[in-house]
Amino acid sequence: MKEADIGLIGLGVMGANLALNIAEKGFRVAVHNRTTARIDTFMREAGGLAENIVPCETMEALTEAIARPRPIILMVQAGEAVDQQIAALRPLLAREDIIIDAGNANFRDTRRRMAALAEGGPQFLGVGVSGGEEGARHGPSIMVGGSAAAYRRIEPILQAIAARHEGEDCQAWLGPDGAGHFVKTIHNGIEYADMQMIAEIYGILRDAHGLPAGEIAPVFAGWNEGRLNSYLIEITAAVLAAQDPASGRPMVDVILDRAGQKGTGRWSAIEAQTLGIPATAIEAAVAARSLSAMKEERDAAQKRFGVPSPAAGPASGDVLAILEQALFAGKIVAYAQGFSVMAAASREFGWNLPLGTVARIWRAGCIIRSQFLGEIAEAFDNAPETGNLLMTGAFMPLIEAAHPHLRRVVARSAEAGLPVPALSAALAHFDQFRRGQGTANLIQAQRDFFGAHGFERIDAEGTHHGDWPPLR
Ligand code: 6PG
Repeated sequence: MKEADIGLIGLGVMGANLALNIAEKGFRVAVHNRTTARIDTFMREAGGLAENIVPCETMEALTEAIARPRPIILMVQAGEAVDQQIAALRPLLAREDIIIDAGNANFRDTRRRMAALAEGGPQFLGVGVSGGEEGARHGPSIMVGGSAAAYRRIEPILQAIAARHEGEDCQAWLGPDGAGHFVKTIHNGIEYADMQMIAEIYGILRDAHGLPAGEIAPVFAGWNEGRLNSYLIEITAAVLAAQDPASGRPMVDVILDRAGQKGTGRWSAIEAQTLGIPATAIEAAVAARSLSAMKEERDAAQKRFGVPSPAAGPASGDVLAILEQALFAGKIVAYAQGFSVMAAASREFGWNLPLGTVARIWRAGCIIRSQFLGEIAEAFDNAPETGNLLMTGAFMPLIEAAHPHLRRVVARSAEAGLPVPALSAALAHFDQFRRGQGTANLIQAQRDFFGAHGFERIDAEGTHHGDWPPLR
């Protein structure tokens, strides 16, 4: 029998769909799953594609079925399961074989695993895959980290299975080491911020302007035709238009407002803090999910403090245009923060991350896909040395035009008692960033007062101390 081009372990939703995608593109894929009954059902579901799939009941059978050097995708739950699979595979593989972790791993785990396998092999790639079930089946965005040589071995397969944007495939080798999983983590952090800011605008339309979900849906659908055009805006319109068959009410109105999170958004915020890079819109989005989870406490607080009644008038065309611009401004800052975190990680770990390429492979396939990412790609291509989107030639005029609208929306929301944490964070970031004379002189004075930490002077080199008056 013809040898398989690649192996795949883990036939959960993502793994099964990825295997079908690979088989559909004409590659032969050997598959294995810990629970073997799942292999049988998967083969039945595969239909005509089964002829390109080699079911393997054991890991030994899987490794024997693949042409050397053998690439094997792990699509198992991030964390311990990955370590267990690596430990089980290692004795069956040679130095030049390649384990590809395509789950949502923490890049620090990926670094650890890569370092552990560096001596003796096999090769290890940490690959971020975005696009959910649909993406895995018909074209995800694929972010590869690890050895470039190992990537070359699987490049034709990745090219074939990845999403396409105007003929270009949305996959790339982004750097050595944990680069791929780091970029995927930041993708998810940006995803959190994007979703949170959309939800904040929905909250304004619902709670200040009193619009029912069914009337908010066309607003988002309209915005999807403009500069906010993106998958997340598109699904927001679809979600808001959906009805609950059981109650006949809008579906969103019967969903409890308690958000889940699996950890990647939080990792983005943690890594941003560790690198000393402000990613406050992402942090606000993570915190907003955490606060949303405190449902009982929020209900009790509402009983005690109450919420102001909506004061705004009808959502006129002007109001909607301002909200659209405000969301655009917030989005620019959130993406700028995410890309700055990647630029800093790239410097810290010596990855040489191509920011333009990152944006380019996010234009299709992934959850944050949008035309906006095409503009970001171009902005970084034209200013490869700049890690800060806000200072690129393309984005300076965009944020300049949009931030007054963000300011208005945040100010009015604050007065109305409406929470807009991510939009506020984005505005505060812009305002602090564009102010050459900030207030950290006072922080430095306080630090020197209580701890003799020293400060720099504006008129002399070196470290200085103040002659502080004693407290009475
Ligand atoms: C993607 C998604 C995917 C997953 C998120 C959801 O890029 O395909 O980001 O990775 O849906 O991990 O994350 P939360 O459960 O934390 O919202």
